[in-house]
Amino acid sequence: MKVIFIGDIVGSIGRDAVEKYLPRLKKKYQPDVVIANGENAAAGRGITYNIYQQLLQAGVDVITMGNHTWDNKDIFEFIDDADYLVRPANFSKDAPGKGVVQIEKGGVTLSVINLHGRVFLPPHDDPFAVADELVEEARKISPLIFVDFHAEVTSEKIALGWHLDGRVSALVGTHTHVQTADARIYPEGTAYITDVGMTGPYDEVLGMTKESVIYKFQTNMPSRFEVPKKGREVLSGFFVDIDNKTGKAKSCERIYINADYPFEA
Ligand SMILES: [Fe+2]
Ligand SMILES: [Fe+2]
Repeated sequence: MKVIFIGDIVGSIGRDAVEKYLPRLKKKYQPDVVIANGENAAAGRGITYNIYQQLLQAGVDVITMGNHTWDNKDIFEFIDDADYLVRPANFSKDAPGKGVVQIEKGGVTLSVINLHGRVFLPPHDDPFAVADELVEEARKISPLIFVDFHAEVTSEKIALGWHLDGRVSALVGTHTHVQTADARIYPEGTAYITDVGMTGPYDEVLGMTKESVIYKFQTNMPSRFEVPKKGREVLSGFFVDIDNKTGKAKSCERIYINADYPFEA
């Protein structure tokens, strides 16, 4: 099974970038499943029902979330009925939605698990312990498991990657919006990258207008960060080819497309 993961989609520029490049990426990589992180899809803050539908229509199969999951209150209206929306599994047991979804393509089942880091982020449940539980459950169904670990610090992501090596097909980091150059396959067969990076405005600060962020750094005054609607785009992603029998990764590759690194067919 071949999987493409698209990093944090930010605002309309990010959604447009998915619509523009995903058909070309599908032609090039022939993925069976496309996963995308949508926590910033609605103007940087959360996701709406319409955007959820728009991304599915654009060719995304499963959408993962993160610390911005609840930013747009629209989500409370549809999350429990959204079969292909997964939010961090180590949120409170009382939180709506689910932390793992299964998707079947061509007779092969892939579990998609979303987890949330605890360093420099709100103190959710232990992602290592929750991962152990969910992976054990998922492996009863299929050894093909994809984890989006939404976390701030590199060490926490690298550590969970090693912890799950050989038990999941791939673990990718999201949240920092900056792609790391460390895509690899761990010795027991887990494909890994510390952060996939984001999909959205290319000429700003992590997707937010640079003027507002510079002002914040200069003055420490309250500054409302906005996502621009016009400008150049970046698409950041990760490709992994998984052995259907063992669930281990056979190969993986970073995807990084922008004005300086144009798409190559
Ligand atoms: Fe994000
Ligand atoms: Fe985030």
